[in-house]
Amino acid sequence: MYLDVPGGFSTQVAILEKPLAEYLPTSNWLLLGDMSVRLIWRSHNMPEPEVSNWVETSEAAKRMETLLPWLEHWAERNVHRNHTLVVVGGGVLSDMGGLAASLYMRGIAWHVWPTSLLAQIDAGIGGKTAVNLDSGKNLAGAFYHPQRMVVANSFLDSLSARHLKSGKWELIKMALIEGDIAWAESLLDCKIPSSSDMKHAIGLKIGIVNRDFKEHGERRLLNLGHTLGHAIESASNFDILHGEAVGLGILAACLLSKSCGVTAFPSGLIEKTAKQLAPLSSRIPVWEKCLPFLLRDKKNEAENNLHFIIPIPASRPIQQKISPEVLESAFAKLFFMVNSH
Ligand code: GLY
Repeated sequence: MYLDVPGGFSTQVAILEKPLAEYLPTSNWLLLGDMSVRLIWRSHNMPEPEVSNWVETSEAAKRMETLLPWLEHWAERNVHRNHTLVVVGGGVLSDMGGLAASLYMRGIAWHVWPTSLLAQIDAGIGGKTAVNLDSGKNLAGAFYHPQRMVVANSFLDSLSARHLKSGKWELIKMALIEGDIAWAESLLDCKIPSSSDMKHAIGLKIGIVNRDFKEHGERRLLNLGHTLGHAIESASNFDILHGEAVGLGILAACLLSKSCGVTAFPSGLIEKTAKQLAPLSSRIPVWEKCLPFLLRDKKNEAENNLHFIIPIPASRPIQQKISPEVLESAFAKLFFMVNSH
């Protein structure tokens, strides 16, 4: 069964307990899968087409050079315009696979089967595809919707505790975008989000993307925690996972709400957030390493003009321009809080 999605949204969405072959294309398909989920795929007797690539993935290898041999391979195997690419993997692979689908023969259809929490509630939805450049994360990419997203909960069983925790920050982000402090607190407290948390977050993201696919306005709210998060992630050489970096970015954004003159966040929530991020304290790069990535971020139209999403309790976030100096002091506070737990 596919979810009811708003009119005009071009991705079919199914949420399943485990992978089911009936959700695959019926013919002319090829597979690009993350090697780490190959056994799970096979354990569910899921088919593999003639053209199948199981690949190792990492944020550091999310680069154009990684993707070009896939395109060559498909051309050698006579993959044609009427083929559908099925991508089975986390956010790194869905970003790269979607970009490869958009490039191959000027665009072939693709389906995504997200296997990480992060990809199931965020990266798999909304057609943002990209690779990284030396200058920063996701700087070369395309908006290219998958025709279908199939979320199978059982993939989450394969995730390490660290990856599950990391993905949870994208869910907490959705709660803060809704201004729903109680939901954010309950997500901070839970180990594994419930299927109703997942369904709710997926529905909210679909609504936002459907109203603003190309990120001219409302979709920018989804960058909450990402401006600083991407810089921390890149400056750490991807030692800090994407979701973890978003968590740190969210904490900075909550701290900034006070200096922006909007309602400050309850200190209990800020403390709890800092405590959960404490295991990262030794990995956080120094401010001087993060700053160059911040200034190059594609969300900033000009240098020294940082576009920030500031969450507000019980309301939707606001978009604000922040000077690097103001952000530096929030970063220092964050650093201190995370280190003192
Ligand atoms: N991951 C943010 C977005 O899809 O806009």
